[in-house]
Amino acid sequence: MERSVIPAAEIQRQRETMRRLAARFSGGERAPLAMVETYGCQQNVADSQRIMGMLAEMGCGFTQDPFMADIIVINTCAIRENAEKKVFGVIGQLVHVKERDPNAVICLCGCMAQQETVAEKVRVSYRHVDLVFGPQALWKFPELLWDVLEKRGRVFSIEKERGSIAEGLPVVRESGVKAWVSIMYGCNNFCSYCIVPYVRGRERSRDPAFILEEVRQLVESGYKEITLLGQNVNSYGKDLDKPMDFSALLSEIDKIPGEYLVRFMTSHPKDAGEKLFDTMARCTHVAKQLHLPVQSGNSRILRAMNRGYTREQYLDKVRYARSVMPDLVLTSDIIIGFPGETEAEAMDTVSLIEEVRYDALFTFIYSPRPGTPAASMPDPASRKEKQVWFDRLLDAQNRISAELHRMYTGKTVRVLVDAVTEDPKWPLSSRTHGGRLVHLSGPSSLVGQYADVRIVDSNTWALFGEAVQL
Ligand code: SAH
Ligand code: SF4
Ligand code: F3S
Repeated sequence: MERSVIPAAEIQRQRETMRRLAARFSGGERAPLAMVETYGCQQNVADSQRIMGMLAEMGCGFTQDPFMADIIVINTCAIRENAEKKVFGVIGQLVHVKERDPNAVICLCGCMAQQETVAEKVRVSYRHVDLVFGPQALWKFPELLWDVLEKRGRVFSIEKERGSIAEGLPVVRESGVKAWVSIMYGCNNFCSYCIVPYVRGRERSRDPAFILEEVRQLVESGYKEITLLGQNVNSYGKDLDKPMDFSALLSEIDKIPGEYLVRFMTSHPKDAGEKLFDTMARCTHVAKQLHLPVQSGNSRILRAMNRGYTREQYLDKVRYARSVMPDLVLTSDIIIGFPGETEAEAMDTVSLIEEVRYDALFTFIYSPRPGTPAASMPDPASRKEKQVWFDRLLDAQNRISAELHRMYTGKTVRVLVDAVTEDPKWPLSSRTHGGRLVHLSGPSSLVGQYADVRIVDSNTWALFGEAVQL
């Protein structure tokens, strides 16, 4: 398979452009301020951290207030219609920013921007947006911004591309404790409901040497939790010159010394198997936590979704994973109301979650995405019916989550303390190794540290604990 890595000279050119922009901005009365707002999944969060890295290198400070900002970047998600509606609302509002400060630069990027229909709508109806670029063009953001400023004209960079890999872009990470590391980009799976393969291009894997170096540096600078990102991490490495698989990558990362945990998402069930689960079980730094989206508990619907596994095959995988990792924390994504789904089929999903007993679920009502195969399938069930099925699913899951959480009460577990909160009773928030949220009482000096905590209470969404004084 052909690999397209952006040549170092091209990245160097972006770096020079960032320096030129910094020089240009330094002529102003104050350092320019940028606002970056992010919608969608962790991949987008990671992308925004690169955008912020580039903006910082241009000499920008950051603000959350659009009226203070000289440069506004809205990084968008196209996964469901609601996500898109929200973004159109946000960019509609930005017209007031432009009225007040005609020199403000407004940028729209991410998965929505890559859709031609969206770009066209922005071109015609949102004329205050200066720059539109898709995920594949992220690495040339400095050059695109330069073009906007030089020409004082609008720039659209949304060519259909297979996508590439850009190494060596700067990054701003939001905390010193947790970090996202993209290991691959794009998706080749074409699940029939999903827009991602159309906007994120083909699957491509980063060179393992770059990934290992990034993780090593993060651990050395004190990061305690590293989440490896990809739309389907189990496809990692198939396209490398020297092919390697995700299990091998995990084993290599696990050799890096230090006190840290590795998580990953997302793992597609069709390619998750015994090798991966055995590797997870063996690697001491790999969290015993698995996000394994099932989408549906009915094999006919799974086939229509083009998921590549049946209900039984999925359940076998879960059974094996639990046999080698008895304390595995398991979560999933579910879509209710796929076109043509009947009530009985939706209830198969409810029975699957009763059987698996997930720790938590991310649940969605199907949203048609223009251009995907599912969008043109007959969809006779009404929104109201789908809502009833959805509510039944939620009720079942809420009960299961509460029951599983209750089993933690009285136990002592190890957590990573993330942050201080506003709640005087539980002034800290933390996560177990399995990723469950624990509201915590204890000193703020624990932030960024691992701590042993005794669980004293729980509800559907979280655990409550006290730091154990050793
Ligand atoms: N690559 C990941 C999923 C990324 S999208 C994977 O395959 O698991 C996150 C979730 O959004 C999906 O798992 C799915 O449950 C949901 N989703 C995707 N497209 C959707 C649509 N058209 N309508 C409703 N939910 C959708
Ligand atoms: Fe979408 Fe399927 Fe790819 Fe996940 S694996 S991003 S659901 S097409
Ligand atoms: Fe959304 Fe794009 Fe992620 S569509 S879910 S931001 S890959």
